[in-house]
Amino acid sequence: MKKIFIFFKKNTKAKKMILYRLLTCLPNRFQYARFGKGSLIYFPMLINNKKCISIGENVTFREHLRMDAIKCMNDQHFTPRIIIEDNVHAEQDCQIFATNLVHIKKNVTLSSHVFITDAEHEYRGVEHESILKQKLKCGKTIIDEEVFLGIGVRVIKAVHIGRHAVIGANSVVTKDIPPYSVVVGNPAKIIRKYNHNTKQWEAVPSDSEEHYEVFDRSL
Ligand SMILES: CC(C)(COP(=O)(O)OP(=O)(O)OC[C@H]1O[C@@H](n2cnc3c(N)ncnc32)[C@H](O)[C@@H]1OP(=O)(O)O)[C@@H](O)C(=O)NCCC(=O)NCCS
Repeated sequence: MKKIFIFFKKNTKAKKMILYRLLTCLPNRFQYARFGKGSLIYFPMLINNKKCISIGENVTFREHLRMDAIKCMNDQHFTPRIIIEDNVHAEQDCQIFATNLVHIKKNVTLSSHVFITDAEHEYRGVEHESILKQKLKCGKTIIDEEVFLGIGVRVIKAVHIGRHAVIGANSVVTKDIPPYSVVVGNPAKIIRKYNHNTKQWEAVPSDSEEHYEVFDRSL
């Protein structure tokens, strides 16, 4: 007993983690659509409509997560779903907004300050004082297995990011990203693709468009 007490006194990180697990384990099971074993969302966080959110096993979201399953905006009504599969790890200050579907598959890494949405504000009507009063255009954002999103990445439209893609720091994703590619910049462009025959990452010329059309959008 004394040894355990000394361990916790010295190791504040372990103490914090165990305290979080004890406090949140039971409520999470009832509040979310699913909350898998070994998953942890650190305080403070702001999460709305937890019943629309499914969290797999061994998922970690560090502090200051904002996750919003938006059911209603102005006169629009939605049936949002956020699906986070097993072993997703997210650093601090990430934001995820869904009106329809945001699906993050297994083993995806979100560095800090990552923003992901499946919707965008319409701005074309000029009779409204603010674009926040205009309709939301909704889609599906799907992030496949093993994707890495660097620090400050913004996924600002409904897109599909293919397996094992690497999204460089501060990139702004506006189009589908093919699997096994490295993209950087604003808007994010492919700079490398993995060649499965040579087993090498190969450079892609910056003006190349041929690599983009990859996913059937009628999911
Ligand atoms: C995307 C990334 C993986 C590419 O690494 P790499 O394959 O070694 O690429 P290089 O450094 O050789 O860069 C290739 C080109 O892309 C540019 N580039 C690389 N990363 C970039 C980025 N994030 N934004 C804009 N341009 C970038 C380089 O300047 C270089 O341009 P040039 O050919 O005109 O000189 C890396 O740059 C990156 O952004 N990693 C994420 C870092 C991060 O978020 N860490 C958080 C850890 S939790």
